[in-house]
Amino acid sequence: MSYIITLTTQDGQQFNFGCEPEQTVQEAAEAAGFFLPASCNAGSCGACLGHCTQGEYRLSSYNPTLLSKNYQELGEILLCRTYPEGDLHISSSYTAAQMTNPQAEREAEIVSVEMLAERTMRLVLQLLPDSQSGLRFNFEPGQFVELKVPDLQLKRAYSIASSPNSSGRLEFLIRLQPKGQFSGYLQQIAKPGERLVLQGAFGSFGVQNPRLKPSCFVAGGAGVAPFLSILRTMAEQGEDYPTVLFFGVNTEQEIFYQQELADLQKHIPQLKVFFCVWQPSENWQGFRGTAVDALKMFLSKTQSVPDIFLCGPALLVDAATQVALDAGINSQHIIFERFS
Ligand code: FES
Repeated sequence: MSYIITLTTQDGQQFNFGCEPEQTVQEAAEAAGFFLPASCNAGSCGACLGHCTQGEYRLSSYNPTLLSKNYQELGEILLCRTYPEGDLHISSSYTAAQMTNPQAEREAEIVSVEMLAERTMRLVLQLLPDSQSGLRFNFEPGQFVELKVPDLQLKRAYSIASSPNSSGRLEFLIRLQPKGQFSGYLQQIAKPGERLVLQGAFGSFGVQNPRLKPSCFVAGGAGVAPFLSILRTMAEQGEDYPTVLFFGVNTEQEIFYQQELADLQKHIPQLKVFFCVWQPSENWQGFRGTAVDALKMFLSKTQSVPDIFLCGPALLVDAATQVALDAGINSQHIIFERFS
């Protein structure tokens, strides 16, 4: 017996395909010829988040930091862990173009890999030219790619921190995870000149109509990467609109890009940046508390209703979402990307 999955894309198109009870939605979509960008296929990266609006299903094991109980009760699912128990209606963040046109893989060379601050590495890649696009790599600020280490069969999704450019130079910020395979690769094996494969860009995390509303960015550590891409693009294009960035870290040692963000403020005068340190030293002069605390304080005082963008660990994203909802922000104005 096969169930019918109706998947609605972010841009409103619907696709139908069959799914066996012992097949995940992800596997069934791929078997039907659709391409759903996924990173781990094991419930641990969050790249395949979707929302089930109708139907019964069961979820197999996944990293619980990706999907809190609250979100699960609201119907949030990981497509690579979802087995149907009837016909399902699912909304996803994929676009119709992404589902029907698999992105070509591109080769890139490591330019540099270095510690940027405690627990955060900076990886810079140079794309190798290909016959169709040369050095160009098309993406929107806020999107992510899949990075693959071919020799080690490793694949992970990371947001691009660079602004779109024609030089093929791409920057990534990577939070080091204890026992993380990609973290281990970066710390012990990766070196300039080595080749990686990347595929993308994917995702819809980004400012769609920047002039319509003020924006509030809440980042946890390396989760600042998509915001850097957005802010760098705004600075390059001379765009200035009310924007506030709450950049949360655990200690001062985890802060990075203070100077660059100060420089960006010169190009974007309406940008305000707050470094929020959860466990500060006595000498810390800035905000003492988490980025979620700062968001709460901000929303209690502001007269405007901003679009709220959240990127970081699931715990931060979940807590910030709750704060925004409690402050009366409509869920349509809360846009998030979370990682494990
Ligand atoms: S692809 Fe589903 S959680 Fe990673």
